[in-house]
Amino acid sequence: MKKQFLLALAFSFSLNGFAQTAPKWQEKMQELAAVLANLLPELASEKSDPKILEKNAKKLSELSHGIEMGRKKGNLIPPGDLDPSVMILSRKFAETSKQAYLAIHQEQLEYGKSLLKTVTTYCVGCHTRHENGPDFPFFPLDVRTEKLTPTERANLYVSTRQFDKGLIEFQKLISDENLAKTQPFAWGRNLRQALAIIVRVKQDSLLAETTIEKALKLSGVPDFEKEAILHWKKAIEKWKKEPASASTNDKTQSQLVKEMNRLNLEAQQAQSGPLDHVAEIQYLRTSAAAHDVLRVSKNPKVKAEALFVAGTSYESLATPNFWPLHELWYEACIRELPHTSLAVRCYNRLEESVYFGFTGSAGTHIPGDVEENLKKMKALAVAPSKPR
Ligand code: HEC
Repeated sequence: MKKQFLLALAFSFSLNGFAQTAPKWQEKMQELAAVLANLLPELASEKSDPKILEKNAKKLSELSHGIEMGRKKGNLIPPGDLDPSVMILSRKFAETSKQAYLAIHQEQLEYGKSLLKTVTTYCVGCHTRHENGPDFPFFPLDVRTEKLTPTERANLYVSTRQFDKGLIEFQKLISDENLAKTQPFAWGRNLRQALAIIVRVKQDSLLAETTIEKALKLSGVPDFEKEAILHWKKAIEKWKKEPASASTNDKTQSQLVKEMNRLNLEAQQAQSGPLDHVAEIQYLRTSAAAHDVLRVSKNPKVKAEALFVAGTSYESLATPNFWPLHELWYEACIRELPHTSLAVRCYNRLEESVYFGFTGSAGTHIPGDVEENLKKMKALAVAPSKPR
């Protein structure tokens, strides 16, 4: 009797907790969308209004800080989503927003604007982790979008979870023969961003195939890109033949882990060099599968493994604005399961990535604070030395 009562009490508490956190999270997101809608036209304009910029950058900084703190304390968690990546991304998001606000406040307008332009990376980074979460076909956004470039418009849509509208913009860019010829890297980025949505969020192998075929038909695409895209095409053909599986929400944790490991192995086997881009499709799928595990898991070992897989996937995907965020997943892996062989593997990847990032023609120069952090991470990863 008493047990039943306690159970009922616990249940009603957890239901209440859910009911409170869900609208709260959505409310914050709606506010973010409103701020972004005010900011973007100013960012796109050559003659921005410093007052509008400062006011909205301040609001963004406060909101993002609130989200970071709320997630840390555990009273602001997206509904049904335990993924520590939300913590990782919200911390970076808050840091960047604050830097941007301070720059604008100190009248370094151009620097502040350039930082603000990278902010959508975090909105997109969180929203396109996997297929879960709402899609807003008609988000009520009062935006002067005509000032934005097509890529900025596409990003605005994706930032506010209007994936279908975003994809329409990206598809136009992918079919743009002139863009492929004159700005092949920008063209390639648009293609990759579209694929990230199609593969991770929509999980639609047919749409992935038609998109790739459209890209391959363009005459201006450079050969090196074409070669990578042909590899992606093969991966999609294989994906299409996979038997339909249960939706991720119906899978048990061990089924999710199994699927993550299967995809990760496929990705590793497809890749020929550590940082070539032939296994893009496999790594997009692997990263989504890792986020699916992280969304539900409370087991430190399972979480650390998924953090490692997410880190290696992001490192291979090497999305420009996202680089070197993958290092944060390695750090989270070390913190999740310190003093284990897995933590050491995560540390080794972290160290290599840091060395790589700070190596130029003049050799390797690692800034003091980065070196300090590496030392801290190493001490946490390796087994504590036995007292003599
Ligand atoms: C740290 C991760 C994270 C960041 C950063 C983030 N979001 Fe979100 N956002 C989410 C999650 C998770 C959801 C889905 C919640 C849910 O399932 O309803 C969401 C949902 C939304 C929604 C839908 C809200 C609703 O009413 O259901 C909008 C709009 C949105 N985000 C806008 C933004 C914008 C704009 C930015 C950037 C300026 C942003 N978000 C940054 C994680 C993030």
